[in-house]
Amino acid sequence: MLIRKPSDIRSSEITPKDQYLNRRKFLAATGAAVGSLALAPGADAAKLSNVVKSSYTVNEKVTTLEDASHYNNYYEFGTGKEEPAHYANTLITSPWKVQVGGMVAKPKTYDLDDLMKIAPLEERTYRMRCVEAWSMVIPWDGIPLAALLKQVEPTSSAKYVAFTSLFNEKQMPRAKFAGIELPYVEGLRLDEAMHPLALLAVGMYGETLPNQNGAPIRLVTPWKYGFKGIKSIVKITLTDKMPPTTWNIANAREYGFYSNVNPMVDHPRWSQASERRIGELFKVKTLMFNGYAEQVSSLYTGLDLKKNY
Ligand code: MTE
Repeated sequence: MLIRKPSDIRSSEITPKDQYLNRRKFLAATGAAVGSLALAPGADAAKLSNVVKSSYTVNEKVTTLEDASHYNNYYEFGTGKEEPAHYANTLITSPWKVQVGGMVAKPKTYDLDDLMKIAPLEERTYRMRCVEAWSMVIPWDGIPLAALLKQVEPTSSAKYVAFTSLFNEKQMPRAKFAGIELPYVEGLRLDEAMHPLALLAVGMYGETLPNQNGAPIRLVTPWKYGFKGIKSIVKITLTDKMPPTTWNIANAREYGFYSNVNPMVDHPRWSQASERRIGELFKVKTLMFNGYAEQVSSLYTGLDLKKNY
């Protein structure tokens, strides 16, 4: 993501978005061999049925599925923004199991199908803010993380939730160039994880997740920077200790545990005061907690958000 020197940055990351996306459209129109597979977003996506619309939805212009599935961070499949769409087809997403354990009364390993039945599938359009100062608006389909946690019954000692992604070198041959420790790990405080906005997404735009977006199941916490949204989750562990998180391990000065969207706390190397919506021309102001302050600010009463970034 951000620990690379400018010389490491691929042209896809510095090409102005419009030019970059037009180039993609041109390739599609001319049927250019390169990436023709990757140009079909959701090629093997299945439509999700029985999805209910949630009131936790913003009424803003939705980013296209094409953009949301071709401008990704998924380091296990390459560090360039276009690479996950090209290479994540080697990820095997079925069968899939998620092991939920640690400080819980009822540990359980879930098949994806069982997990999806814990609560009605909801569609929620969330504002998503990347720490790199770009943003998208994405309709996610999933279940509240709280529904799963309640089912396994956290014990009174549990204070945090730790998440682990799949790490499989055969399926992820580019992972050796990721430059970060793998498997990818993330964490939330238990009360953050229980917040109704925290979603375990199994789909987007009404279809199953494209591999590059974290199939078959990933975390979505819209008031936090995008890197908290750990992809392709295989393990969820309740614990009494603040769990390690991938970007904090990679660069603790730049990435903290909380990673709440905060326009008043700049990244050491750039401002977080504004953002560029992918697909839009002009920058917009970044909102505290990404616009979700009314819902989440009480989680952080008394916490110094400059220190706890
Ligand atoms: N999860 C895993 N396993 N590996 C990753 O490299 N990247 C993170 C996060 N989850 C990442 C991950 C980062 S930096 C971002 S911004 C979001 O995924 C991007 O999600 P998106 O591609 O669906 O927009």
